[in-house]
Amino acid sequence: MAVAALPGTLCAQPSLEEPSQRFRAIQNIFDPLSKPAELINDTARLTLLICLVIFIIVGGLLLYAVIRYRRRGPEDDATEPSQVYGSAAIELAWTIPPILIVILLVLVTARTVGEIQNPQFPKDPLQLRIIGHRFWWELQYPAYGVTAANEIHVPVSYLPSTPRPVQMLLDSADVAHGWWVPQLNGKLWVVPNHRNIMWIQPTVLGIYPGNCTVLCGDQHANMLIRVTVESPEDFEKWIAGQKAPAVADPTVEDGRKEFIENSCGTCHRIAGTSAANGVFGPDLTHFMSRQTLGSGVADNNDENLRSWLRDPQVLKPGCLMPNMKLDDKEVDLIFAYLKTLK
Ligand code: CUA
Repeated sequence: MAVAALPGTLCAQPSLEEPSQRFRAIQNIFDPLSKPAELINDTARLTLLICLVIFIIVGGLLLYAVIRYRRRGPEDDATEPSQVYGSAAIELAWTIPPILIVILLVLVTARTVGEIQNPQFPKDPLQLRIIGHRFWWELQYPAYGVTAANEIHVPVSYLPSTPRPVQMLLDSADVAHGWWVPQLNGKLWVVPNHRNIMWIQPTVLGIYPGNCTVLCGDQHANMLIRVTVESPEDFEKWIAGQKAPAVADPTVEDGRKEFIENSCGTCHRIAGTSAANGVFGPDLTHFMSRQTLGSGVADNNDENLRSWLRDPQVLKPGCLMPNMKLDDKEVDLIFAYLKTLK
């Protein structure tokens, strides 16, 4: 596999698992693996460090005073200690250093915000339009004319030899959502009628989970994000697969008819079919290229897919796809059809 020739992977342990298929389940904000998340992490660590030093100094002095001046018994007189007023030295000591610390944190934060908001890309970034829907994510790659859903694929960025920044244009089709893949970027609101822009430059292969971070309804918690960071070759392969027209397998013609007759195409698009042009639900042209169902709510396997077709409200209660009340035969036919959409 071509990845083995790229820097950083030469000494990788041989593994049955492809590096790009490694699921990074722990969304560790202290282990950033992409540029904006790294910048945020640096600033957060500096802030935490300064606060830790202040905490130790203040807490230490407090502890010292509590122990040193505690009441030692009945013979201690309980009179008030002498009060100090107007000590210029003390006043300056608790005024000047805090001001300097605040100025330092303001400058560092402003620099980080500037670097994230006005990135200097070494080359044109790959543009990815992400549209939040209740309760899933629509994905568009304008440069390739590709539309997908929920499972993002991006090429890895081998800085500085092969930088591949990805610029994400965040729009919402309905209510406010939030975009956050902790190891790749900071949080950003996804709001209707206003485009927010975010970018990532992931440096390590793997599958990164993320979440919608703004309460958007019943299935907010299951509006999961899945970013596959893969080698440029794998990414091009994925794009080619997504660009291809839908597989038209004549053996599942009956299933295709059921799909159309049950109005599935009102909400779902299958490229190359005239009757399935919906935009309310995820594009199903290459449905079987996805690992999960319902924006990450379940694995995309036979059992779950059948359950979803029988009643989506079982796996994802409150999702906007209603129970279509299909009988067993219709479920079987549509199931067989969907399974061909590789
Ligand atoms: Cu979308 Cu919470």
